[in-house]
Amino acid sequence: MRPLSETVKTISESITLKYNRLALQLQREGKRVIRLTAGEPDFSTPEPVIASALTAMKTGKTRYTPAAGIPELREAVARKLSRDLGGRWEASQVVITNGGKHALHLALMSILNPQDEVVIFTPAWVSYEPQVRLAGGIPVLVETDSSYLPDVAKLKSKLTEKTKAIILNSPNNPTGAVYSPQVLEAIAEVAKSHDLYVVSDEVYRHLVYNGDHLSIASLDGMLERTIVVDGLSKSHAMTGWRVGFALAPKSIAAFMIRLMSHTTSNINTPTQWAALDALSLDTSYMRDEFKRRRDYVLERLKRLKLPHSTPDGAFYVLLDVSSISQNDTVWVEELLKQEHVATVPGSAFYAPGTVRISFAASFEELEEAFNRIERFIHKWI
Ligand SMILES: Cc1ncc(COP(=O)(O)O)c(C=O)c1O
Repeated sequence: MRPLSETVKTISESITLKYNRLALQLQREGKRVIRLTAGEPDFSTPEPVIASALTAMKTGKTRYTPAAGIPELREAVARKLSRDLGGRWEASQVVITNGGKHALHLALMSILNPQDEVVIFTPAWVSYEPQVRLAGGIPVLVETDSSYLPDVAKLKSKLTEKTKAIILNSPNNPTGAVYSPQVLEAIAEVAKSHDLYVVSDEVYRHLVYNGDHLSIASLDGMLERTIVVDGLSKSHAMTGWRVGFALAPKSIAAFMIRLMSHTTSNINTPTQWAALDALSLDTSYMRDEFKRRRDYVLERLKRLKLPHSTPDGAFYVLLDVSSISQNDTVWVEELLKQEHVATVPGSAFYAPGTVRISFAASFEELEEAFNRIERFIHKWI
């Protein structure tokens, strides 16, 4: 047989899925497993969104739409994000995608040429590196500082004439870090002086517990070089609906739409009508509940006396176990085996020696999970 794709060979299956699978296997064996692996809200999709989708289906909104999405939704997204983020986008600059993940893929495919370098700050979400590779680019990993914020001096030291773009993710998965205005200003200066694109993944922007969300797109001179990625997965508990948004300079948006028209075509049509109604819903009750859990998790973490990130946004915390274990994967697997608490090794996020804990779980589950984690650590050391 002829060899398969050399490009796909360079990427591997997502590690988060592996730990979810191991947890489900234990659950099937009858164990009371607590899963703190989830990258999705544990809330149900709001009823009005479901009602909108049903109405769309019953009223014939079941056919193809333009690849970039229905004009009504593109307009509503342009209006809402211009208001929320302080940018100025028109409907023609909005692409409705199959989740934020698809928006990132289209963006990278549209801006990269072979061997272009793309900066990714670590710890980082699992899909950036494979996505850069799939688009023919070279990922350049740059470690954040001790507060998990981008280190601009380090960033500058990694730039070459091949550097084409920087990926930003604030609020951050897996650390929960929210980038400060100073850090964003400094990155914007670097992007402008080196003529770089910025792909700004803001899918957790609704989940900020300290201060306000700031988009780099709103900073002086950044709108024309920034692609904002957003969506309804995390903000409206709609992970399975697959709806994301990309807001890009016109020429980039046009490339993304070309790509979409020959690959996925439009996203699911009833979902687009439901998304239009979702945009006007207030989902701050989810943020309030996540904040309550986050505060509780921080209290429990204090008792463990191990270093950890402080999640000012999103729903993850990174626990540093390097002082008690030489291998985060072994630690995670033992915690799952002995105490039936599922987490994800930090190595999956380029942060060896740490463990990602998601607090997208009920308060009761978090309470029980931390009882077990505490017991496990006492046994371990
Ligand atoms: C940082 C980050 N970006 C993007 C996504 C993609 O979200 P979706 O494709 O479900 O909208 C996720 C999902 O886990 C994420 O954590």
